[in-house]
Order: sequence, then C-alpha cells, then structure tokens
Amino acid sequence: MALRIDILTLFCEMFDGFLSASIVGRAVRNGLIEVHRTDIRQFATDTYGTVDDKPYGGGPGMVLMCRPVLDAVEAVRKQTEPQGKVILLTPQGRPLSQALVGELAGEQRLILLAGHYEGFDERIRTHLADMEVSIGDFVLSGGEVPAMVVIDAVTRLLPGALGKDESPVEESFADGLLEYPQYTRPQTFRGLSVPDVLLSGDHRRIADWRTEQARLRTAQRRPDMMARNRQRGDDRENEQTGASP
Ligand code: ADE
Repeated sequence: MALRIDILTLFCEMFDGFLSASIVGRAVRNGLIEVHRTDIRQFATDTYGTVDDKPYGGGPGMVLMCRPVLDAVEAVRKQTEPQGKVILLTPQGRPLSQALVGELAGEQRLILLAGHYEGFDERIRTHLADMEVSIGDFVLSGGEVPAMVVIDAVTRLLPGALGKDESPVEESFADGLLEYPQYTRPQTFRGLSVPDVLLSGDHRRIADWRTEQARLRTAQRRPDMMARNRQRGDDRENEQTGASP
C-alpha cells in the first residue's frame, strides 16, 4: 500500500517541481507514495482568506491561527483512514536524523503541517501536532522546504523507490560513519589520480581502505558522531558483561 502524505501549506505550488522530478517523482508515478496538498487558506474564516493574526502581548510578525489549521487537519483526516501522525515543521522540533527518517518511513500516513509567518499559535503545537520536526539549527521562511526534506528522505527508504544502480547511501549513517570517498573515470584527471587500492581488484583491501577512510573522515569532520559511536560501543560492551554504566 502506498504511503499517504498530506501536506498542509499556504504555498501548494512550491511542491510542483519537487513532486514530479527524480526519485520522488518516480515514487509518485509508481504509486509508492500518494501525496495530497491542501491549501490552509481554503479554511479561512473570513472572505479575505485571513489565516494569521497579530500576537497577543504584542511583538513583531504574525501568528498562524488555530481554527483554519485545525479545520484543515480535520478535513484531510476525514478523507481517508488511517488518521496519520500530524507532524509540524518547526525549528523547535526534534532534530531530523536518519533514525527518525526510518521511523517515519514505517508509518502508513503522514500529515505534514508547514507554517509560514512568525509561527503557529501554541495551541496548534499542544493539541494538534503529534510531533514537531526540525531540519536543522537555522530558520527558514516556512516549513515547505523542510517538508520536502522529510518527504525526500522518507521516500528513498521505501522498498522499490531506488533503482538497482542507486544505492541507499544512508547505510553509512546507520553505521554512524560518513561516506568514504568515491571515484569514477577517468583514472587521472588534471594530474589527480584515483587511489591505487581501488584499481587493485582486491576486494578485501578495498573494503578495509573504505572503512578506514570513512573513520578518518568522520573523526575529522564530525567528532560528535565519533563520540556517539564510542558511547554506543561502551554501552554494548557493558550490556554483554553485565556492568552498570
Ligand atoms: N521552519 C522554519 N525553519 C525550519 C527548520 N529549520 N526546520 C523545520 N521547520 C522550519
């Protein structure tokens, strides 16, 4: 059964190219994902299409109102079962990781709520959202690009989404390591040569070299990931020996 994804947004058109190209486009065409876009403005309570208002207590910017968002979620939920998780895209959310992507890929339905303006009325967070997700410690002008990031990362994990020549590179993230360096033809380009080991045909040596390179690169660029790996290794050892942490 296709993963159903509902996107609630004020800018449905932002998703046009994204949903028709590359791996996501193919997944849509092949029925692996079924994406429905809903314009929150349709649920405005006045004839001007107002969906935002000034914040109580003053301050800059506008705040997305409860009612149109709540009505939009209720309307899409009525369209079909299952109810699905409502995921709010916000910089205050749980940081997106390959592990979280894996969790989301196991759902049958995702309802992605992309806000604009200064933010959401707090009651949307507390009473409507099942989860808040952030794609990083920076602020974008809306949740649309983060919603695309979630859809892209989730889609490539669905069985059949990748062709046989497209490898799920996230394997390396699952191992807690960054990807090793890759090369293709030509063997020498402007004096820059491919490492000899990759031309050796010795699969064992190639595998060892790649693991070593992945470790070096991760240690240099992401000491935080290396520290987490060490912690995991320690935890596993403690579990085996029965030692307490
Ligand atoms: N909306 C604005 N910035 C965001 C971010 N970094 N992650 C998720 N949603 C957002």
